[in-house]
Amino acid sequence: MTSVDNILTGKYPAKAHARRVADLLKARHGGAGAIYLEAQKTRMIEDSDETMPFRQRRPFFYLTGCLLPDAAVVYDAVADQLTLFVPPIDEESVIWSGLPLSPEEASKLYDVDRVLFTTDINSTLASIASTHNGKTAAFSIAEQVSEGTSFKGFAETNVSALKTAIEDTRVIKDAYEVALLRKANEISTKAHVAAIEAAKTATNERQIEAAIIGACIANGCREQSYHPIVAGGEGGATLHYVRNDVDLIDPDTKQRKNNVLIDAGGEYQTYCADITRVIPLNGKFATETRQIYEIVLQMQMECIAMLKEGVCWDDVHALAHRIAIRGLLELGILRGSEEELFEKRISVAFFPHGLGHYLGMDTHDTGGNPNYEDKDTMFRYLRVRANLPAGSVITVEPGIYFCRFIIDPVLNSPETGKYIDAEVLKRYWKVGGVRIEDNIHITKDGFENLTTAPKTIMEVESLAM
Ligand code: GLY
Ligand code: MN
Ligand code: MN
Repeated sequence: MTSVDNILTGKYPAKAHARRVADLLKARHGGAGAIYLEAQKTRMIEDSDETMPFRQRRPFFYLTGCLLPDAAVVYDAVADQLTLFVPPIDEESVIWSGLPLSPEEASKLYDVDRVLFTTDINSTLASIASTHNGKTAAFSIAEQVSEGTSFKGFAETNVSALKTAIEDTRVIKDAYEVALLRKANEISTKAHVAAIEAAKTATNERQIEAAIIGACIANGCREQSYHPIVAGGEGGATLHYVRNDVDLIDPDTKQRKNNVLIDAGGEYQTYCADITRVIPLNGKFATETRQIYEIVLQMQMECIAMLKEGVCWDDVHALAHRIAIRGLLELGILRGSEEELFEKRISVAFFPHGLGHYLGMDTHDTGGNPNYEDKDTMFRYLRVRANLPAGSVITVEPGIYFCRFIIDPVLNSPETGKYIDAEVLKRYWKVGGVRIEDNIHITKDGFENLTTAPKTIMEVESLAM
């Protein structure tokens, strides 16, 4: 058994999470009497008797580790008691859906002090309020409390502070959460290897997407962290490409396109992998793709090498731009001095997104404090504006893209056109885009890279041949 599987044989640390959230509420709001959260409900598809695809509410999962719909949880912060509520047996539905999880079974699975039925929620809340002599506050999340739920007996009900408190607590992952992210990465690596294999004979992007999703499901990730991006050739210049159905044969030349960008990760027990690779479609990278790949890999490796507790993410992002500028100068795509190109933000035309984002139960995880109003285009889409704390997990995903929609205005502007060599640039449009994305756990003295998918040119080409 691997060390990851060993950690995951234990229970998800729901009670430790409840304590950390209560501590934060105490620091910010002078104490929490009770925290109450509901799971996502079973919801029907409009005009159909089928249920909608289920996605557990993250705040509820964080305090339970439970993937059941229609459940609830209450944490009595004074008594330090965590109570999970599971739906009782609905005799009408057993024939269709089987027996629901019993309280006894749930007690064995989850890190909670007791399990009751959802029909016991109001009496339990009332009893907690009365043991606190009506002096404490109940915290919950607006829009996520069922109509019949009553907080009668508490001194106040606060439905605005809890969501942020949980989001902020989630930034620092414990060993169990890091193991879940590692597991999601291990499975997603299998999916990326399957994608390389499928790409050898694929004639359409959809065949590669099918291989990714198939490998994820077969290895334990039923859900994707996000819709996979499988973008052949120039499609790679679209950051959140959604088509995944384009032929991999160039319609003009009738040749296979050079490369395909794959951004895909599986979700394991709500924890997300988020991995991007670019692979050749003809065994070896074409010259221009290889040149850009080398620059992006350099951006990524130097940025990762900088990482440890306390590093300012803005600085890491700025370093990625400087390396991009140096590389594009060397290729002759850019002209001028590194300093001037950096100051004029010319590299933003080639690397328009942020270097990465926190990763956890959401792909773009909570607590990043972005500033989408930032007047500085280099930092506007940076999803994390912080000194990185130990225990956070962040993606490092530099890219260089050849997107006419973004580059042409810079090229055609009298002020900035001189910085780009249009003749040299012509050779690179067909690269589309190169992004390389790994998931990094920040530690006190450095980092752990959770992503093991093949990445060096040699590794990728040896699998792609
Ligand atoms: N897969 C989405 C992202 O990398 O942010
Ligand atoms: Mn990402
Ligand atoms: Mn991604």
